Amino acid sequence: MMKRSTVAILLAAGQGVRAGGDLPKQYRKVAGNTVLGHAVAALSQHPRIDHVVIVIGAGQQAIAEAALAIERNDTISFVTGGATRRASVGAGLRAASGADIVLIHDAARPFLPVTVIDRLLSALESDEAAIPVLPVVDTLARGEKMLGEVVDRNALYRVQTPQAFRYDIIHTAHQGWKGEYDPTDDAQMVRALGGHVKMVQGDAMLDKLTLPADFANAEQRLASTSETRVGMGYDVHRLVSGEELWLCGVQVPHDKGLNGHSDADVALHALVDAILGALADGDIGSHFPPSDPQWRGASSSRFVEHARDLVAARGGLVVHVDVTIICEAPKVGPYRSQMQAKVAELLAVDPGRVSIKATTTERLGFAGRGEGIAAQAIATLSLPGGF
Ligand code: CTP
Ligand code: MG
Repeated sequence: MMKRSTVAILLAAGQGVRAGGDLPKQYRKVAGNTVLGHAVAALSQHPRIDHVVIVIGAGQQAIAEAALAIERNDTISFVTGGATRRASVGAGLRAASGADIVLIHDAARPFLPVTVIDRLLSALESDEAAIPVLPVVDTLARGEKMLGEVVDRNALYRVQTPQAFRYDIIHTAHQGWKGEYDPTDDAQMVRALGGHVKMVQGDAMLDKLTLPADFANAEQRLASTSETRVGMGYDVHRLVSGEELWLCGVQVPHDKGLNGHSDADVALHALVDAILGALADGDIGSHFPPSDPQWRGASSSRFVEHARDLVAARGGLVVHVDVTIICEAPKVGPYRSQMQAKVAELLAVDPGRVSIKATTTERLGFAGRGEGIAAQAIATLSLPGGF
């Protein structure tokens, strides 16, 4: 089957009136990242999503870029939305034209489990539209001051986003919408035109941040389910003449430098492996194959940023990292605080969460003989549980 392109349209052009506060809610922070940053990270890191179109309010590109948890790259673009959610989706759809499948998602639902995206995309293999839903668990009733008729909740569902569509279906639904009322989602527009929308299981993590109290509740729910993960990394590179020596992203003057993959920054390689270990997500070689020419001579900083983005995509936080550089020479001490600042910057954490240490091996072994430098790292992450 030909590969179909999948574009996520992320809606972030609302004003967040009901949530209150000084900033529109998508730019506020929750669980260590902005609401928008969580949502973008989850979508852009999904292996089956090719591009993310972020729909923002006029003049908000600078604040939106600053709110992203991940490095801006060409798989992310911005478009200006409209006065209603429907108008904003329309702008997103125009920007996504040519896509085969679109996922339309509210930035106000920042905690997006991979499993929900997987279910939606699987459903789209046979259906033209799919949405995540959850059953209603409370009693539902009509009423006005006094209790009225109870509504049978068994056939009722709470509808969430992302909502997945074959592009043509949702494009036609938007084109053909007569504007009878202002729709709160897109699936109802497809339904109104007689389309079929498959329901898949949603997730409570996806509840929308709408009212002021939703922020504190989301923070608490994430904190109460979060788990601590620890990963370790180890790496060695050979010291040779005629190479630059890079350690923890800092160039250190020395008569020799490290030879190997990328810039051979042994300390950052150990650090990346520690983070990937805590994520249980392979190792540096599986993410950046040495055989791939794009990584030849690349700065290892990019690997660290990628690992950081993987943590952010899971809604996680880097709690602490501890790196030990093992060599006889050069002396690491004079560069320690520069290294600490650099690693903290790459991981987007406070320097107080970064420890850089060095040791010799009493002239024993390859490190002691100055044939190579080794590094060990331990990373402690906090990841939202069940997510
Ligand atoms: N949205 C949008 N363009 C609009 C209105 C809403 O892109 N003109 C987006 C919001 O940014 C949000 C999603 O649609 O991610 C769901 O809307 P809602 O929760 O209603 O957000 P707001 O409209 O921002 O909030 P409020 O209605 O309280 O002002
Ligand atoms: Mg709104």
